[in-house]
Amino acid sequence: MEEPTVTVDLAALRHNLGVLRDRLRPGVRLMAALKADAYGHGAEVLGPALERAGADAFGVATAAEALALRAHGVTRPILVLGPLRGCLREVLAADVELTVTDTASLTAIETAGAAASARVHLKVDTGMGRLGAAPEQALALAQALARSRSAELAAVWTHLACADEPDALLPDGLTARQLERFEATLATLRRAGIEVPLAHAANSAATLWLPRAHYDLVRPGLALYGHHATPAAQALLPAEVRALRPVATLRAPVTFVKRVARGASVSYGATWRAPRDTEIATVRLGYADGYPRAAGNRAEALVHGVRVPVVGRVCMDQLMLDVGALAGSVALGDAVTMLGPDGPSAAALAARLGTVSYELLTNLNAPRLARVYVDGPAAVSG
Ligand SMILES: Cc1ncc(COP(=O)(O)O)c(C=O)c1O
Repeated sequence: MEEPTVTVDLAALRHNLGVLRDRLRPGVRLMAALKADAYGHGAEVLGPALERAGADAFGVATAAEALALRAHGVTRPILVLGPLRGCLREVLAADVELTVTDTASLTAIETAGAAASARVHLKVDTGMGRLGAAPEQALALAQALARSRSAELAAVWTHLACADEPDALLPDGLTARQLERFEATLATLRRAGIEVPLAHAANSAATLWLPRAHYDLVRPGLALYGHHATPAAQALLPAEVRALRPVATLRAPVTFVKRVARGASVSYGATWRAPRDTEIATVRLGYADGYPRAAGNRAEALVHGVRVPVVGRVCMDQLMLDVGALAGSVALGDAVTMLGPDGPSAAALAARLGTVSYELLTNLNAPRLARVYVDGPAAVSG
């Protein structure tokens, strides 16, 4: 192979969509979270692919992400999950739905001067502590919305802070308390005569193992891409859930192979020394390609079906592998799998690096990485 490449498997994406759909009661809708360029996989391709595969709606973080999806032909509802910053007139003209968190955000929509009434989702902060009206403010905000001539209530929603942790299954955990606050807020609105067309709360984890949180619509992201946040989150999966398939594979070419003697050091800082005479392969992938620098001396790669360690510090454009176990058989141009269904998993690597798979995946759209879309398992060349 010639250059570091992310291969995105649309068949795996459809498979994961099916796994998630199978968890839902009939009638529950699925909003695919396509934030951050579809978690680094390429929203301009995945949006239309998911629409063809039956996703009911799309969630993005920013107005620009919503407009990009429309520009690439997505016609189903798109919700900006994040705060309203700029481009309001354009997104409303593109029939994008917006999140309202307080009277200031409602006023911003009203003064944007859109021709049609904006469809807004009222966000309640039930315990995430990030964005949203406090439960006790929700009624006043919903009543202001009911009076508004420029906006109408399309949904009420919240976001769970611990759904991918064992907390989610505890009767007195934060997740249970969040859901109680959410349900109490919905009940207050309905008692006051406010019609709530949709309620939604569930991310991937809650979609997979918390049916109580499904309400009318779920908003999975990570699971669609075939991942779990951490190995601990993966362990929570009920046995009947079929395995998710990682959609992306990150591969890079070997660019140099050499023999080194016991005691030779590799890379900046000489943090790794060969414990024996061995062979080192240099790979054209570095932290400027989105592969984490922290992976030096901690991660593995798959070469010719064998797991080998990343040795020494990861550089800006290159990293090194100890391929002593494959001595003599690694050649220039050979493809090395750094992340993927057959190689190291994002959750396992993330756990080693003290992060979550989300962070590794959202780096997959680094500008120097080539991206190839396939439908079914990709043949490895080189
Ligand atoms: C508001 C909101 N909903 C849904 C999601 C999807 O979460 P996940 O990728 O864990 O499924 C996210 C992602 O962080 C989010 O911020």
